[in-house]
Amino acid sequence: MSSIKPFLSSTIGKKVLVAVTGILFCLFLLFHLTNNLIIYTGEENFNFLVNSLEKIKPLIRVLEFALASILIVHISNSVYLTIQSKRSGSVTSLSDTKKPNAPLSSRTMFLTGSILFIFLVVHLSTFWFNFQTTDDHSAYYNMVTNSAIGFGNIFITILYLTAMVILGFHLKHGFSSALQTLGLKDTSLGRVINAVAIVFWLFVPAGFFSIAFWFGILNGGK
Ligand code: HEM
Repeated sequence: MSSIKPFLSSTIGKKVLVAVTGILFCLFLLFHLTNNLIIYTGEENFNFLVNSLEKIKPLIRVLEFALASILIVHISNSVYLTIQSKRSGSVTSLSDTKKPNAPLSSRTMFLTGSILFIFLVVHLSTFWFNFQTTDDHSAYYNMVTNSAIGFGNIFITILYLTAMVILGFHLKHGFSSALQTLGLKDTSLGRVINAVAIVFWLFVPAGFFSIAFWFGILNGGK
């Protein structure tokens, strides 16, 4: 325990924390998407799913607490590394802002992360907050599709569509950066993880994108 503290305070320790928490959040996103895809099967099934999750609320609360802790560690260490890199002028951050040839997704990690943070604040203060506070257990589907906070509102739809493209960019570079940090980049395990990572940086954002597109653009919130 005494040797882990100095490690986690070091630059490489903080990079490992960012990498591991990023991967853990991706696992949540896969689970979250799987649940949300049920919305395609209709109002009844979606409301039934949310009500089932309501029945295991204590467990959900523990998972939400773990998720919030994961996000706090991810964001605080990313911000620290970015500030440290700007101050020292060295390339210690997660984004290669100082390398002109680095890919766009890599040079903009801090920017895309900040936009995703704003998206998350809007997302939680609309969907999550309203799901928690409603007494009407048959209203969940309508909340996602209505014109107040749901995809019936074109501004909400545009926000989600844009945020999902940004999420894809952020996760694409995030995965390759995490593999480098964990020393796996040029190993055979790294190549396997790199191939699996496409599920997270392409299919997961595309799945969320499809929901916003289907309900917000193609069906006008229905
Ligand atoms: C089409 C896209 C999405 C839809 C329809 C959607 C829907 C929802 C809903 C309905 C809730 C409330 C669940 C409940 O309280 O039972 C929720 C919570 C949440 N969402 Fe999303 N979500 C989407 C995309 C995202 C994305 C891209 C992220 C992260 C980048 C995200 C992160 C979260 C978090 C952290 C929570 C709170 C934890 C939880 O209660 O599960 N969501 N979402």
